Amino acid sequence: MERTLVLVKPDGVQRGLIGEIIIRLERRGFRLVGMKFLQMSEGLAQKHYGEHEGKDFYPGLIAYITSGPVVAMVWEGDQAISLVRKIMGETKPSASPPGSIRGDFAIDVRRNIVHGSAKESDADREINLFFRPDELVNWSRDVDRWVFSGE
Ligand code: RTP
Ligand code: MG
Repeated sequence: MERTLVLVKPDGVQRGLIGEIIIRLERRGFRLVGMKFLQMSEGLAQKHYGEHEGKDFYPGLIAYITSGPVVAMVWEGDQAISLVRKIMGETKPSASPPGSIRGDFAIDVRRNIVHGSAKESDADREINLFFRPDELVNWSRDVDRWVFSGE
């Protein structure tokens, strides 16, 4: 099982898409293990997007991600990292197929609604930035055997 960090970015929150994003992850079979509603500080944003420091879009990215509240969530399941990225679509909404979150709800790369960890090391680092270990819930669902074969 993998865990991945998902953010509903400020534009997603402002546009009333929190539930829409949760329902897509939940319906796919992923399990929610942590969730909080917060406004990211500049420091948290810089740590979260540290890999992009120095790029031309970085100042705008930090301003955007700190501009309003976000929903931070940890979702768990087999291949959660790569499959959540597929559910989200491509970085550019214009390159994202209909049926993906960005392909259904966004147009502009600087207003692309959601974040999902890109790889395992990012997921571990990002989850630790937003959540203490005791804020994540280890639990199972009765339906899990109908979602995960365990093989
Ligand atoms: P994210 O980290 O937010 O999930 O997005 P991502 O992996 O799909 O894309 P990434 O390359 O990590 O870029 C982070 C965010 O920076 C903004 N961005 N703007 N050319 C641009 O103006 C540009 N490129 C990237 C987007 O908000 C992107 O999600
Ligand atoms: Mg990224």
